[in-house]
Amino acid sequence: MRILVAYASKHGSTEEIAEFIGKTISDSGLDVDVCSISAVTNLTDYDGVIIGSAVYAEQWRPEVAQFMRLRVDVLAEKPVWLFSSGPTGHGKATDLLGGFLFPNNLEPYRQKIAPQDTVIFHGNLDLTKLTLAELMIVNGYGGPLGDYRHWETIRQWADNIVTTLARIQANPTASV
Ligand SMILES: Cc1cc2nc3c(=O)[nH]c(=O)nc-3n(C[C@H](O)[C@H](O)[C@H](O)COP(=O)(O)O)c2cc1C
Repeated sequence: MRILVAYASKHGSTEEIAEFIGKTISDSGLDVDVCSISAVTNLTDYDGVIIGSAVYAEQWRPEVAQFMRLRVDVLAEKPVWLFSSGPTGHGKATDLLGGFLFPNNLEPYRQKIAPQDTVIFHGNLDLTKLTLAELMIVNGYGGPLGDYRHWETIRQWADNIVTTLARIQANPTASV
């Protein structure tokens, strides 16, 4: 099976999560491509697609939002998993965001795609990478600086994808 992990990242933290997911899945013996969503041209060769974006102001990055709108029909025919990365601080990611799981403006596309799973992971606010304007916004909403990514949680999520892909491979005619 050939799997795509496509990401949209501004400061690199979501890219690292995508690379980690890709490595975890390829370690199980599957063929995995990890690349920026902007570099994805063809989805037909993939048996499963994982799409992730950093969250800024409760939105996915514009390039991935555009991708979902344009490719919604082909994505709806494949097993798809969606992840966001964003909140910093201790506690459940969705709790830190008052229940936010996915951007409202993309919800109709998410529903049409009917992903296998949609999750949000903790993110990383790296002082050395933020612009002054970003730092002011972060100070405004009180997001704690630091790397709160929880690699074990991400690894378990990727392992579950491998299990589901094995089930799909064993019974390809069952609906995704
Ligand atoms: C200006 C700004 C706005 C942000 N807005 C949100 C937000 O609305 N929700 C959220 O969960 N995280 C928010 N974050 C945190 C980022 O999503 C987090 O730092 C993420 O790990 C960045 O990923 P990247 O390095 O791939 O760009 C924001 C960060 C910045 C700098």
